[in-house]
Amino acid sequence: MCGIIGINSNKPVSGTIINSLKKLEYRGYDSAGIATLSSGQINEVKSEGRVDNLEKNSLVQNMNGTIGIGHVRWATHGLPNSINAHPHSSQNVSVVHNGIIENSTLLKKFLVGKGHKFKSQTDTEVIVHLITENLKTEDIVNSIKKTLKALHGSFALGIIFKDHPDLIIGARRGSPLAVGYGPNENYLGSDSYALKSMTNKITYLNDGEFCVIKKDHVEFFDEEGVKVNKKVLELSSEEKKYDKGDYKHFMAKEIEEQPTTLKNGIKEYLDNSNNDINIYNFPWKVNEISSITLIGCGTAYHSCLMAKYWFEELTSLDVNIDIASEFRYRKNRFKSDTLYVFVSQSGETADTYAALDLCNRNNMKTCSVVNVIESSIARDSKFVLPIHCGTEIGVASTKAFVGQMLILYILALKLGLMRKDIEKEIFLEKLKDLKKLPELVKETLLTDNKIQTISSTFNEAKGSMFLGRGFSYPIALEGALKLKELSYIHAEGYPAGEMKHGPLALIEEGMPVVVLAPRDNYYKKTISNMQEVIARGAKVLLITNKSKDEIVSENIWETIEVETANDDLLPFLLTIPLQKLAYYSALKKGYDIDKPRNLAKSVTVE
Ligand code: M6R
Repeated sequence: MCGIIGINSNKPVSGTIINSLKKLEYRGYDSAGIATLSSGQINEVKSEGRVDNLEKNSLVQNMNGTIGIGHVRWATHGLPNSINAHPHSSQNVSVVHNGIIENSTLLKKFLVGKGHKFKSQTDTEVIVHLITENLKTEDIVNSIKKTLKALHGSFALGIIFKDHPDLIIGARRGSPLAVGYGPNENYLGSDSYALKSMTNKITYLNDGEFCVIKKDHVEFFDEEGVKVNKKVLELSSEEKKYDKGDYKHFMAKEIEEQPTTLKNGIKEYLDNSNNDINIYNFPWKVNEISSITLIGCGTAYHSCLMAKYWFEELTSLDVNIDIASEFRYRKNRFKSDTLYVFVSQSGETADTYAALDLCNRNNMKTCSVVNVIESSIARDSKFVLPIHCGTEIGVASTKAFVGQMLILYILALKLGLMRKDIEKEIFLEKLKDLKKLPELVKETLLTDNKIQTISSTFNEAKGSMFLGRGFSYPIALEGALKLKELSYIHAEGYPAGEMKHGPLALIEEGMPVVVLAPRDNYYKKTISNMQEVIARGAKVLLITNKSKDEIVSENIWETIEVETANDDLLPFLLTIPLQKLAYYSALKKGYDIDKPRNLAKSVTVE
């Protein structure tokens, strides 16, 4: 996490750095800082909290310099205060860092022994002193090469030097980093989103590479310090600008955009003239695949869990799912007939990337479902299925979740057909239903007022539970995650049938419990589980789909009915009221909806 920006220009840079940092805040927002070179010295200003605080600082307003670096932080080592905020500087060198230096304690001991004085509790400060030390004997490229070799862990770095006022160094291992090209100026950024307002010409650094950014050209080096040639990519202009429009929060906008997300996804993958699904250039034959393993983190993991149900329903493949941070360190039995699918909105999540890398190194079939198509995960997977949901800014994932589910459902349908696990007629029926989904989601989005009122009860409670069975279980987990990350209310998702094996002990008088019970195969069983929690005093919010059949249960506190669809598609509709519940609950509490505490949008550390 953490966001990095660097600008080497012939105009003053502090204002542009601040504006870029605002764009990068989704990566971390507990402190921010900037350093520029002017009058032959490094000037550094840092503030606790948001970039706004930094911007208001009079020292920033008077900052000169045509070369500089900036940072937004998501704390790993040391408290989120202004001392630990980046940049970290010695007299000669100033550094911004995203990642974790695992051997920082050892390096610090060595550097203290050499007389270096440390000011912060961060791991980053060792990089500053190590470069300063190496510069005593080496030229700039060799001092960087030597420093990077000594570091264990992950990093993206931006570095400026008092004695080399014409350049910025960028370096990458594990954490993403991009270079952007402008007229008489060049940039460094932790992702293309931050650079897009300045340029659409980008080069991504590969792992182990570093670069020297001058105003008029950029040179790239591999970890041995050997020059490498890199391609300049042209980014599509459509995503240059993404703002809140008339919405109060990005999240509100992103929730409302979901019918469009679905429409776009359907348009990209459905071939209307042939009534088929187009998965262009899928590189493997169906008989080369007999199992599928889906891997992700957080919300993306919930889409993997959702997909498990669909793949089991629509194909005869063996289906496994995994949390990336667990997968990457387990003794996996890699199988060449397994398709490994990596699901990620950002495409930069460190654990998911590491799991992908592990599979690639074992020569496995790797495929990713990502939103950011220029991301590391997309670039390094052998096959990519883009989500096409547009930029998602809200830290709490909404439209990307729906987008991921759509693509995974489409993949399950297509593989089911290709493997002859489902009949053509069933496939066609399901395609027909799928085309109606955007409209059904749009209708479901209209159930607004009731949720606003309901959210107050959740805010007053000590904790809450989200229950579902079958297709609704992953959605229960996602609903609980949304509520906890936005409202800081304890919320747990459970398979409804599992309650009696322990969690039922948590139910007490008045506890809000969301029960997802659409009229699918699991309906009756879930209603029985619902009665068990009502009998113990729970205030049940039942979320079901519209039906002419009455709900046969007493003492339900509130009911929300979403639109009706075939069983496979109900999870999309059930998701909507849960997103809104979390949104309104946080809104009423006055919390920062787009940037919940302690979190960041892109989790590029382990
Ligand atoms: O970018 P990714 O999809 O790989 O991110 C994975 C998780 O960090 C992310 O889904 C996280 O759980 C969200 N904050 C959930 O709303």
